[in-house]
Amino acid sequence: MIDGFNRKIEYLRLSVTKKCMEKCIYCSKDDEKCAVKGEELPAEAFIKIADACAKLHINKVRLTGGEPLLRHDLEEIVRGIYDLNNYKDITITTNAQLLAGKAAALKKAGVNRCNISLDSLKPDVYKEMTGGDLNKVFKGIEAAFNESMLPIKINTVLIKGKNDGEIDDFIELAKQYPLSVRFIELMPVGDMLLTGISNEKIIKEHKYLLPLNTDEKSSGPAKIYTAKGFKGNVGFISPITNCFCSSCNRIRVTSDAYLKPCLGNEAEYSLKEALSLDTNELAKTISEIIRKKPQNHTFSDVFNADRKMKDIGG
Ligand code: 5AD
Repeated sequence: MIDGFNRKIEYLRLSVTKKCMEKCIYCSKDDEKCAVKGEELPAEAFIKIADACAKLHINKVRLTGGEPLLRHDLEEIVRGIYDLNNYKDITITTNAQLLAGKAAALKKAGVNRCNISLDSLKPDVYKEMTGGDLNKVFKGIEAAFNESMLPIKINTVLIKGKNDGEIDDFIELAKQYPLSVRFIELMPVGDMLLTGISNEKIIKEHKYLLPLNTDEKSSGPAKIYTAKGFKGNVGFISPITNCFCSSCNRIRVTSDAYLKPCLGNEAEYSLKEALSLDTNELAKTISEIIRKKPQNHTFSDVFNADRKMKDIGG
């Protein structure tokens, strides 16, 4: 559907759980302060929301978290959405800690691609930044390759003094492997004391990277660059230095049934009551909320959201 600023909304992100086994420094710091407004929705509710969104011509869905693979019924959710026969693209965003053991089943249920969060290529830095095991991520990437969940996209958030010395290593990864490595600028969600790295600066300092003309459908907000001899490419997602709100096509639903029309804005609307109505009524409620989607994010103001990124799913 078209929102109040003439943007075509066609992409739904469902955060199926706020639970995560990792503790990324930019995501889940200050856990106690996390807003929990309600219980995690059952699988049928996510499928019903996807069905209602299908009626609004939303045709792309991504399952996020927290860590979506922690949901024991994730395959059930995927299969239910797949069976709606509407979504040609069902994707997940995962930290890949459990992916090696689950990739085959997820692919079978209907997941066609996955984005993998990977903030360091050094085991000790990875552990420090996320609490997780880097080796498991590599095993997960391998499993995703084996299941042809392609193209595999790697999400990297650069933080000053932590992993900003690894920029060239990540670019090298895109040279050696058919992966898309995407640098996502740090978004200041919550009371954060970290400093991000500007993508503009990286682009300026890597003149051999040349922009690829990609359609927005496959690359989303990422600006894609590559260079001679590269098997993969490098994407830059720059919500801070190059706001892409005018082409934003997405809405987000949290695991406790709140619809967030904008990631960088505190407004959120409960779908709880509407979920007990029929699918057409639910679609009507969702369309009314989409009309309230703000024109721009407010990351540049002091943005002190109630929720941490792990409740929203990035
Ligand atoms: N800023 C930028 N990116 C973030 N992500 C999570 N929190 C932040 C943040 N504060 C990214 C993670 C993950 C994706 C879903 O969102 O890297 O891959």
